Amino acid sequence: MQKLSISDLNLEGKRLFVRVDFNVPLSGGKVADDTRIRGALPTIRLAVEKGAKVVLASHLGRPGGVAEERFSLKQVVKRLSELSGKEIGFASSCVGDEADSKKLGLKAGEVLLLENLRFEEGEKANDAGFAKALADGIDIYVNDAFGTAHRAHASTVGITAFVDKCAAGLLMEKELRVLGKILTDPERPFIAILGGAKVSDKIPIIKSLIRQKVNRLLIGGAMAYTFFKADGYTVGKSLVEDNMIPTAQEIKKMAAEAGVELLLPTDHQVVDSYDPLNSRRVIPIDFTNAGLVGLDIGPETSALFDKALTGAKTIIWNGPMGMFEEKPFDEGTNSLAKSVAKATADGAFSVVGGGDSVAAVNQAGLTEEVSHISTGGGAALEFLAGNELPGISALNDAD
Ligand code: 3PG
Repeated sequence: MQKLSISDLNLEGKRLFVRVDFNVPLSGGKVADDTRIRGALPTIRLAVEKGAKVVLASHLGRPGGVAEERFSLKQVVKRLSELSGKEIGFASSCVGDEADSKKLGLKAGEVLLLENLRFEEGEKANDAGFAKALADGIDIYVNDAFGTAHRAHASTVGITAFVDKCAAGLLMEKELRVLGKILTDPERPFIAILGGAKVSDKIPIIKSLIRQKVNRLLIGGAMAYTFFKADGYTVGKSLVEDNMIPTAQEIKKMAAEAGVELLLPTDHQVVDSYDPLNSRRVIPIDFTNAGLVGLDIGPETSALFDKALTGAKTIIWNGPMGMFEEKPFDEGTNSLAKSVAKATADGAFSVVGGGDSVAAVNQAGLTEEVSHISTGGGAALEFLAGNELPGISALNDAD
């Protein structure tokens, strides 16, 4: 069902509560990757141009219901002002006297960012009293936080009970359009690449991709070790979820029965756990000794995955191939970013989602070389697994 869109509404003079996802990586108090902020700009610009009074709200990190300086959205205001070319106001809490008076004092075309919603316990608890306080004085609710649409929190669901008009923002609409096409009608060959630490995080999406008969499924990152252990390989001290071994076996069987080609790494970068950088070497997957820890895929696997993308018409990629945050174990992920960009130039429609994979594409300067950078990690996975996202269901249907 099509949802009400911000584009369908008269915004002039209206006070908008726009839920954005500014849960961005920070480094030294500065925004390290601004993909999500850029993603929200079209909605903010539209609201400003149409003369709305714009209240932006987001979470940042997982502060657990108490204020913590390191999770303050104050760190985001400067970058948001630079990118939007506008002075953005800030309220040092998301509810209470200061927030209320700043909200009420907004003039048409002005923008205010509220402090981290998760500094209040009521946010994650989807508390009705807190949701009502957020909705105070608000005429229209807009959800543009695709990345948080899988959470049923006060600012994504509860608030919609207290505002008459609840619409999707432009970023939300774009994500739903692009990912919806992949879910229902992907052009083939359709190739999915999954990485990251845990199989357990990705079971629904893996099963759904196999049911959808994705043509190839490439699995890298630490989650591959659970598959290797399930196959009887020694994996040294590499990260394994022992309780997921039966699931890994089931997934392999499902893939074989569905005719889905499942590709796992053939070599990896290992270290002994005592002297990581000096002990680093590349070895085949099947010779991993007891003391070794695998931290990235090796060059042979990079070449294998590159070849596997040849001729692809649709590619989705979520999750890093190794310990991306620690150089040089970002090599496998960076090389995959190049392969995805190359396949895109050769005619594939590519979608990259999830913090580390998006950061790899951005850092490699390949942002413009992939078809769509999704601002949703977990949300995109849930959506592509066919699950309903509460933050979307809560919006009004289009007329
Ligand atoms: C994300 O980064 O995936 C979203 O912002 C949601 O954050 P959360 O997993 O802490 O709810």
